[in-house]
Amino acid sequence: MIIGSEKARLKDLVSILRADEYVSGEYIGRMLKVSREAVWKQISTLRRYGYRIDAKPRLGYMLIDRPDRLYPWEIMYELGGSAMVKEVIYYEDVSSTQDVALRLAEEGKDSTLVVAERQSKGRGRSSRRWVSPYGGVWFSLITKPKISVRNATLLSLATALAVCNIINSNLNIPARIKWPNDVVINHRKVAGILIDMSVEHDIINYCVIGIGVNANLSIESIEGMMDDEDKGYHYYGSTSLMHEMGRAVDRVKFVASLLKEIEGIYSKLSYRDEILASIRAMMLFGPVSIIEGEGRDARTRDGIAVDVDGDGSLLVKTNEGIERITSGYVHIRYYKMHGSR
Ligand code: BTN
Repeated sequence: MIIGSEKARLKDLVSILRADEYVSGEYIGRMLKVSREAVWKQISTLRRYGYRIDAKPRLGYMLIDRPDRLYPWEIMYELGGSAMVKEVIYYEDVSSTQDVALRLAEEGKDSTLVVAERQSKGRGRSSRRWVSPYGGVWFSLITKPKISVRNATLLSLATALAVCNIINSNLNIPARIKWPNDVVINHRKVAGILIDMSVEHDIINYCVIGIGVNANLSIESIEGMMDDEDKGYHYYGSTSLMHEMGRAVDRVKFVASLLKEIEGIYSKLSYRDEILASIRAMMLFGPVSIIEGEGRDARTRDGIAVDVDGDGSLLVKTNEGIERITSGYVHIRYYKMHGSR
């Protein structure tokens, strides 16, 4: 973990180095109110973190390249001020950002993002393991949305909507929401959402929004790390942003845009109808199998997913009429893009 004072120093230094030209050590020292020797030390620290910085006598330093790392100062810089994220806690390697964030939330932390390059015990829904190697986007956000518990049920769909919007608008890839809250591209899962919430007497104490996005990973590297249990009975395939784009994405920019999108969408959560309309436009509808249970005990009936209800449940037309699916599994058998572009 990188400590707060170092984060602040490096954030300032990196913003100066973004000038796209040589900046003298003396100028940097003046701006940061430190000696030239201290500047040199901080430049060495950045180099250790993987930054390529050229140094020329009389000209100073120039940033040539920054590493593909989700460093807190990079995320804060791209965010450019946010009420939702006041602090970024960074791990190179952690058990699960969700578990760390939950512990911090219990201790009273708010508006904090916990991000990791790799998780050794990433958690998925239904107590499944979430494979989280280097190259992905794995983060948990501690937040306290100003919404009533009644609207909280929409939180996971609203979060999936934010992920879809950013993949669609920033990367121009057609992502969709697969109920309950998977994000899929071309019928394969690219992102998952896990929300832990503490509620007392109808008041939300805190929410921990865990998001995992297969960003700069190959499909082989994701699937190669999964065993049958990780995949689960209803596994339908994984993909990654890199696979769909044919090139790596800028993960820092992706995370910052996603956080801004989440902030925007959460601020509108009380306008239930507006949010629901956007969710509906991103949701996959069409023929589905409603599968209850797993393996041999599974009970399957077919239907057509036609809508999402105000509380986020899926409405499926079956022989018996319209059924509201609130839990269990809905396996989308084949797709009909609703509102596809
Ligand atoms: C799912 O099963 O679809 C949800 C996956 C959620 C994974 C994310 S990665 C960041 C955060 N930390 C975890 O351990 N899990 C969530």
